[in-house]
Amino acid sequence: MGILSRSSSRRSEESMKLLTTALFAIAFGILLGLSFPSLWITQTSLPRNLLRSIAISHRNSETATPPKAIDITTKIWEPSNPRGAERLPPGIIASESDFYLRRLWGNPDEDLKKQPRYLATFTVGYNQRHNIDAYVNKFSDNFTIVLFHYDGRTSEWNDEFEWSKNAIHISVKKQTKWWYAKRFLHPDIVAQYDYIFIWDEDLGVDHFNAEEYVRIVKKHGLEISQPGLDPERGFNWQITKRREHSEVHKETDEKLDWCSHPPRPPCAGFVEIMAPVFSKNAWRCVWYMIQNDLVHGWGLDFALRRCVEEPAYEKIGIVDSQWIVHQFIPSLGNEGNSENGKAPWQGVRDRCQMEWKLFEKRVENAEKDYFKSLQVESPSNSTTSR
Ligand SMILES: *[C@@H]1O[C@H](CO)[C@@H](O)[C@H](O)[C@H]1NC(C)=O
Ligand SMILES: *[C@@H]1O[C@H](CO)[C@@H](O)[C@H](O)[C@H]1NC(C)=O
Repeated sequence: MGILSRSSSRRSEESMKLLTTALFAIAFGILLGLSFPSLWITQTSLPRNLLRSIAISHRNSETATPPKAIDITTKIWEPSNPRGAERLPPGIIASESDFYLRRLWGNPDEDLKKQPRYLATFTVGYNQRHNIDAYVNKFSDNFTIVLFHYDGRTSEWNDEFEWSKNAIHISVKKQTKWWYAKRFLHPDIVAQYDYIFIWDEDLGVDHFNAEEYVRIVKKHGLEISQPGLDPERGFNWQITKRREHSEVHKETDEKLDWCSHPPRPPCAGFVEIMAPVFSKNAWRCVWYMIQNDLVHGWGLDFALRRCVEEPAYEKIGIVDSQWIVHQFIPSLGNEGNSENGKAPWQGVRDRCQMEWKLFEKRVENAEKDYFKSLQVESPSNSTTSR
């Protein structure tokens, strides 16, 4: 590559210098080695155990025979490194990453004018671009914006919206929010972000401000949350309904039969999968619970409480003072296949239901197996189901 070529005359001059320096260093090293036979061993970086054993054998043999040269193969094997990286010196390991954009030039230290601490991800189709434009206006520049494009249309966004040029665009056709989340939002990749928004595209945000939302979530210690839903426009679960004159609520106002005690989903410890917001710690757990093949995420909402400390209903809640409108636009739901005379959306809906059952079963079985392996009685009934 052009940018990497250098002048050759300079190079030969440099290599002469290098050679001279090297010769000096070798001569100096030999001198040093002769005068302090044990010094050179301790100066190389060896695993501590090995060093100790060398020191001991050296001490034992001191009186009898002169120290003999020890064949040292300085091998790095650091079991506490991340799996697979044991051969690396720990100091070079970068085990976490971020979505910060960098320049191709200049000092890397000076690349980042801002290091956003919040992450907003939206799974989008081009048709909903005006909705998303409205979202972005409600998220300050303290947010990194990531768009997951399920319709494969990305470049049009840059033509239309200035903010799009600084957003991260990930495009894979006909994939769902949870499919993307599992592939691209590994906790180590998003480790710089204190809060992670994983939102659908059909939400009205006229009464929402993200910065204010985060302030409230922090204040109430919510690890998992969602904005309240405008009851005028419909909601699926009583608990997610927005309450007036309230900042946050954590339980239903109706006393349903199945909500007596202890408070469990969907009466408490519950948010829906359409607009969840996770703290860094909660996300580190939730990511592991997302199944690779269950792409719609149905049933996940009932299991989220497993990812926060008990009592879970204290850490999961609905923010009433920053609320949204669910528009119920089927978008990705219409991207199914027409099969057996069924409409495309029907096939998707059936799959969602099937995934819900599968997920429930997997959690239940995993829990059962776990307690069985410990040879103790399971402390609770299945907790993912209604
Ligand atoms: C971004 O975050 C900083 C630090 O928390 C805060 O002072 C600033 O007001 C925030 N920006 C906006 C637009 O709210
Ligand atoms: C929960 O467990 C109790 C006793 O262990 C049992 O009687 C009850 O039927 C279980 N409920 C469900 C929903 O499985």
